[in-house]
Amino acid sequence: MRLLVCGGAGFIGSNFVRQRLRGSEDEVVVLDKLTYAGRRENLQDLEDDPRFSFVHAAIEDADAVAGAIDGAGAVVNFAAETHVDRSITEPDAFVRTHALGTFVALEAARERGIRYLQVSTDEVYGSIAEGSFDESSPLNPSSPYSATKAGADLLVSSYHETFGLETVICRGSNNYGPYQHPEKLIPLMVLNALAGDRLPVYGDGLNVRNWLYVEDFASAISHVLEHGAPGEAYNVGGPDECPNIEVVRRVLELCGRDEELIDYVTDRPGHDRRYSLGSEKVRALGWSPATRFEQGLERTVAWYRDNAWWWEPIRSGAYREYYERQYGRALES
Ligand code: NAD
Ligand code: TYD
Repeated sequence: MRLLVCGGAGFIGSNFVRQRLRGSEDEVVVLDKLTYAGRRENLQDLEDDPRFSFVHAAIEDADAVAGAIDGAGAVVNFAAETHVDRSITEPDAFVRTHALGTFVALEAARERGIRYLQVSTDEVYGSIAEGSFDESSPLNPSSPYSATKAGADLLVSSYHETFGLETVICRGSNNYGPYQHPEKLIPLMVLNALAGDRLPVYGDGLNVRNWLYVEDFASAISHVLEHGAPGEAYNVGGPDECPNIEVVRRVLELCGRDEELIDYVTDRPGHDRRYSLGSEKVRALGWSPATRFEQGLERTVAWYRDNAWWWEPIRSGAYREYYERQYGRALES
């Protein structure tokens, strides 16, 4: 099959494309705007594959999407602004990409009558103190990031109900692994620990996230693309949950650094306390995660340690200004 993968130059999208090209006969067309988070470097090892091609365009550009979708049997949409902190300071792009971008991709899929998979997040359900959300839980997002993602999910469902489009939605929990931009918790802490910089922990460090290794999310997306029932959403949670401070302590240990590097900083406004997904529905389809957090974190730290070529240009570029604005202090290294 030929797949159109929107946002395939980002963290999860590039891992998904790698898995599809290595594990199937698919042809893959990536359409990506290449924001600060999307990079050709993420796909560098795939560029010579004759089954791979790349279109540099925004998902809200209907003409570009119409060209890229030609001959495709399905669309997988990863294209998004993904950082909660940036959605608090600059929400505009979140509204444009999630609302308008999803609309344009849905229209293109409807015109051709092909399957459409929306990549979504546990954050659309909001925070939960105990227990887990299932797919029938109400959407209750709290940040401009999660609110615009929830809006996109509702639009996707409406295209199934109204037009009979074969849509499926995958709601993943927090991903981690190779090629993740260091604005996110785990790569930020790994790179700061390796460099000997301070590790900024929001609030009391007791917010809990449910960690999913990126290759497991990629395999769940493939599984739902092939076996998911039209019109359905599937939660995809990781096997382990962990408070942030515990994640940070484990990173420090793996990097051989002292806990004195931990820096408690001002909390994020509207900071969700805990995310948790029940994933029985996708497990009943035959998917389960292969990677426990302990093993995945070890692998992730090793990848960042061994791939300075990938992160050095980020950490020495515009990211330094972002970091100083966000944390009120400069990176020392
Ligand atoms: P990312 O920020 O690494 O990648 C997003 C990609 O989308 C980038 O390549 C970027 O250039 C591209 N993009 C942004 N705006 C675009 C536009 N207007 N047109 C075309 N391309 C555009 O994010 P990620 O972590 O890989 O997330 C991918 C998807 O998975 C998102 O939809 C996100 O909501 C969802 N998700 C992420 C996580 C997580 O923990 N990272 C968890 C669950 C779900
Ligand atoms: P993040 O990686 O931004 O993912 P999300 O907010 O989408 O869950 O953050 C994960 C958790 O780590 C979240 O509770 C916020 C916290 N965090 C910090 O404590 N310090 C940081 O510098 C960052 C980026 C996040």
